[in-house]
Amino acid sequence: MIPTLEWTQEGVRFLDQTKLPLEETYVLATSYQQVADVITTMVVRGAPAIGVSAAMGIALGVKQSKAATIPELAKEFDTICNTLAATRPTAVNLFWAIARMRDRFAALTAQAGITRKAVADALIKEGLVMYDEDIAACKSMGANGAELLPESGGVLTHCNAGALATCGYGTALGVIRAAVERGQAIHVYADETRPFLQGARLTAWELMHDGIPTTVLCDNMAASLMRQGKIHAVVVGADRIAANGDVANKIGTYSVAIMAKEHGIPFYVAAPWSTIDLATPTGDEIPIEQRAEIEVTHHAGKQLTPHGVGIENPAFDVTPAKYVTAIITERGVLRAPYAESLIVLEAAAAAN
Ligand code: MRU
Repeated sequence: MIPTLEWTQEGVRFLDQTKLPLEETYVLATSYQQVADVITTMVVRGAPAIGVSAAMGIALGVKQSKAATIPELAKEFDTICNTLAATRPTAVNLFWAIARMRDRFAALTAQAGITRKAVADALIKEGLVMYDEDIAACKSMGANGAELLPESGGVLTHCNAGALATCGYGTALGVIRAAVERGQAIHVYADETRPFLQGARLTAWELMHDGIPTTVLCDNMAASLMRQGKIHAVVVGADRIAANGDVANKIGTYSVAIMAKEHGIPFYVAAPWSTIDLATPTGDEIPIEQRAEIEVTHHAGKQLTPHGVGIENPAFDVTPAKYVTAIITERGVLRAPYAESLIVLEAAAAAN
């Protein structure tokens, strides 16, 4: 399995995604501040992977704390959580993971006589449970979504919603992997995904790693391929899904969704429940990360644009729910109206 991130005795080890596909190197984050830096600089990226990385960063911070008392530790814990929360604003999995660690910390420290080491050990365990749960969710998404993909044909994906964006297997690419495992003859078309090139560098790398036939296309080529009949379905991941089913995902997803609708091609979103944000009513309220201009002005250290030109670099966009054919989750496949189907599945899970 592709080792996206891993808890070790020395710290959290990450496959450096900024170096792929040419170099397979690893970064060892030995403090929570370094974990935060690894998330900000996109050494690790992808909503579910960011969430579990933050949880492990919190556990690492508590493990290394020198606090003499539990109230002192609680103060430091708050700083650790706030540092990790300030890394990237759009993927709600980050805030979901931090909230889960905060709840666990509160329950642990409410126990009389608990030691700092016992708290740290329990938080490390929680991070490892989240890691395993993430892979299990991806596998269930795959099982739930595979039959939506064609028996044979082209499937377009945008960005990287694969093993590299999760603890393993992937969301959108997990659905594709599951379809291929069932014997479906899928040919993946991977949008290159300017400016960070997650499609060209990461999706292509991990699918080739698994021997899944893959073609990379520039972001402006998809409509033409759709018109030629080469694309039979689209499947993408998500960074946050609002209560009405609006989907925030990598910049460019919205235009793919519009093109799919125009060509009568189903547009699927695969995401774990930790990506669903019922507290955010619509996509309009989802904070969109603005990243540095240099990601657009330069590539591999080389300047592409004239000095001083205006630059836009929103990292995500919002696809209105009306373009989404179905949302594939580990709990099942949801159809419109999402405001209702999301509540039904949430209530069913709460009842179990
Ligand atoms: O900026 P990134 O690379 O973190 O953006 C990632 C995406 O937009 C993914 O599609 C999304 O996080 C889903 S990953 C399973």
